[in-house]
Amino acid sequence: MRKHIVAGNWKMNNDLPQTELLITELLKQNKTSDAEVMVAPTFTNLWQAFESLRQESIEVIAQNMHFAENGAYTGEISASMLKSIGIETVILGHSERRAYFNETDESLAKKVDAALANDMRIIFCFGEELADRKSGNHEAIVESQIKNALFHLEADAFKNIVLAYEPVWAIGTGETASPEQAQDMHAFIRKTLAVKYGNDVAESVSILYGGSVKPNNAKEIFGKPDVDGGLIGGAALKAEDFYAIVNAF
Ligand code: PGA
Repeated sequence: MRKHIVAGNWKMNNDLPQTELLITELLKQNKTSDAEVMVAPTFTNLWQAFESLRQESIEVIAQNMHFAENGAYTGEISASMLKSIGIETVILGHSERRAYFNETDESLAKKVDAALANDMRIIFCFGEELADRKSGNHEAIVESQIKNALFHLEADAFKNIVLAYEPVWAIGTGETASPEQAQDMHAFIRKTLAVKYGNDVAESVSILYGGSVKPNNAKEIFGKPDVDGGLIGGAALKAEDFYAIVNAF
């Protein structure tokens, strides 16, 4: 069976005291579902979060990394640096990284390779913009994003890859893809994987949905057969809301 995963992407929110407070609140929550829970604090708070949660069933993950191992890349962080403080999973390709920091399929393919070379697990994000959805181009865009960044990999690599479909028009906008839209796209993604890697791989990869998932819509979205969890932004900043989503499974 595929893993259910709910990951909170805290983005550029929460300084150190706020991070500690949110973790304290998270630890008061009751988990009643089988979902794996992850949170992605900003770089400066990763170590503290890792220390606070190392005995708990919440994994601390990174929001990004560079593709190089080390060197003259001022302001950047490598996979081995993350690994050295205990971080095993990284989010790559978030639409905000693509839109504001010029991340491309090509640079993401390099990041994917670097993460895998360091035995890290990846949550790989992609998704179409509103204009693509309106013009009916959404499947073609998603297919090309996946192919360009991931289809140079061997099938085995997908053991360490989680996919996150995040339609750009639904992120932080309060506008969610309908459960049917999410299901249709997730089924399309799984079919795309099956054509390239076969059914076993396609059926084993968890595909998360992201974009304005809230306590009041999570159950319906997670109820769809090809939706294996969520990548949560805004609602991940409130412990109760986040766990209402975790427990929607
Ligand atoms: P949102 O963000 O839940 O605030 O829409 C989702 C994401 O960016 O991963």
